[in-house]
Amino acid sequence: MPHVFEGRGSRLYNFVSRRVLRRMYRRLARDIAAAAPQGAAVLDVGTGPGVLLQELARLRPDLRLTGVDLSADMVANATRNLAAHDNATAQVGDVTALPFPDDSFDLVVSSFSSHHWDHPEAAVPELARVLRPSGRVRVYDFRFAPFDQLATTAGERGLFTAEPPRRDPVPTGVPFFRRCTRLVLAA
Ligand SMILES: C[S@@+](CC[C@H](N)C(=O)[O-])C[C@H]1O[C@@H](n2cnc3c(N)ncnc32)[C@H](O)[C@@H]1O
Repeated sequence: MPHVFEGRGSRLYNFVSRRVLRRMYRRLARDIAAAAPQGAAVLDVGTGPGVLLQELARLRPDLRLTGVDLSADMVANATRNLAAHDNATAQVGDVTALPFPDDSFDLVVSSFSSHHWDHPEAAVPELARVLRPSGRVRVYDFRFAPFDQLATTAGERGLFTAEPPRRDPVPTGVPFFRRCTRLVLAA
C-alpha cells in the first residue's frame, strides 16, 4: 500500500477531502442516492476518510452504510468522520478479500480507489460475491483507472451479466478535474 495513505499522508488526505473536495463528494453522493433502493445496504470500497459516506448519510438516513479500506489509518479517520451518523461504519479490508458474507449488499460503490488496486481482476469476483442478486456496482474514478480490466474480467468470468457494463462521464464540480468516469456493473 502506498505510504501516502498512512500516518501523515492519511491526515493530509483527510484534510483535503473534507475541506477542498467536499463539493465533489456531495455530487457523487447525489448520483449514488438517486440509484440506491430504499433502506439499501451500501458498501464503499476504498472509502479513505469516508467523506463520500458522510455526504450519503446526510442525504439518505435510510441507507445502511459500510466503508472498507486497506489502510487502518484511513479507517481511523473515517470512523471519526462518521461518528455522528449511526447508519455508517468503517472497517479495514482488501477489495480482493472483503470481510463480509456472500449477498451482504444491495449496492457497492467506490471513488478514486480502483486505480490503486494491485489486482483489479481479483476484485471483480469479490464484488460479485458480496452483492445481492440484482445489485449494482458503481465505480467512480479517473479515466485511466482499470475500467477495461474490470469489465473484461466480469465478461470472462460470466459475472455481472444482467446488463452490459456501462461507462459514463460524471461532472465533479472541481475545476482541476471537471469530470470523472462512472462504471456500472449489474449483477
Ligand atoms: C485516493 S484514496 C480514495 C479515498 C476515497 N474513496 C475518496 O474518494 O477520497 C484511495 C483509497 O483506496 C484504498 N485502497 C487501495 N487499495 C485498496 C484495496 N486493495 N482494498 C481496499 N482499499 C484500497 C487506499 O487505502 C485509499 O484509502
